[in-house]
Amino acid sequence: MIAYPKAIHDAWLPVCAVRELRGKPQRRLLHGQPLVIFEGTTGPAVLRDRCPHRNVPLSNGWVENGNVVCPYHGWAFSGDGTCTAIPGADGPDGQCAEAVPCRVANGLVFANPSATPRDFAPLPFPVNDDSFDHHVWPTRYRGSLIDGMENLLDPAHPHLMHPRIVGRNPQRIRVEVLRQQFADHVQCTYNEAERRRGWLPALLEGQRLNGVGLFHGPTTCQLGFIGKDGPKLFITAVFSPQTVEDVQAFAIFSTPKGRLPAWLKGQAMVAFHRQIIGQDQAMIAAQLDNLRAFGGPKYTQGPIDFIKTPMLRLMQGDRLVPSEERFTCWL
Ligand code: FES
Ligand SMILES: [Fe+2]
Repeated sequence: MIAYPKAIHDAWLPVCAVRELRGKPQRRLLHGQPLVIFEGTTGPAVLRDRCPHRNVPLSNGWVENGNVVCPYHGWAFSGDGTCTAIPGADGPDGQCAEAVPCRVANGLVFANPSATPRDFAPLPFPVNDDSFDHHVWPTRYRGSLIDGMENLLDPAHPHLMHPRIVGRNPQRIRVEVLRQQFADHVQCTYNEAERRRGWLPALLEGQRLNGVGLFHGPTTCQLGFIGKDGPKLFITAVFSPQTVEDVQAFAIFSTPKGRLPAWLKGQAMVAFHRQIIGQDQAMIAAQLDNLRAFGGPKYTQGPIDFIKTPMLRLMQGDRLVPSEERFTCWL
């Protein structure tokens, strides 16, 4: 229904969180291709999820001594796809499963099955900054990639869909927006003229002044909340299409190190956001159903949709011409 651009097919995309690899091999799709991810002898490994013997999914098997074992006849494969054992035979005879290049960063396993891979791009600040605690939360939704990414960065829907966060429609405050385009990302800074009501500002961000929405092509979104005395919270989400209507989104919550233990903050973040994300997921699924019913997407650009146009270009792998623009709106 929707073909994703080559820039997305060539990108390194996360396929699972490292902590999801507890013993059992995991099956995930990337652009419709089944992959099996497991803990190999030298770290996480990714193979195409197909035993070369009789095409059984290796993810139905188990992991033994860093090898994934096929459940049908017990052939075992190491992380680079080499067959290491064939039960009942003297030894393996050179059969291989197909390995997919992978790398581990920020608690995520990234894979790139493309024949023309792009360079691996590190995630934006503060994901690699040690003065922050980071908590990875893998989620998944039914819907299109662009609708999900736009939803995360869209400042115009929370009044209606999550009124407890920012205040109920039509209570709004004046916000000055600065949109900055850089070659490989676009950033909108929302400078609020007054303090918000709502639970999120009160509980999480204290004296929140600025919100930041950032998109790094081809599939990385980030929300930042900056208080008077510095950053309070960043949510970086990397989106990874299993198919054109089933998307994984890996959120990383980053908070400045402090007295609270990282695990406690992580769990609190997830608990707080679970309901919000559920509401968004229902809306994105409804978009998908309608997109199907009408035979494809048709979008109108609204006056406060600040980020969609440059986002679409970055998804295509285009570079943006650096620029700065200012807007005023009521959020
Ligand atoms: S199908 Fe996998 S070992 Fe035979
Ligand atoms: Fe939302």
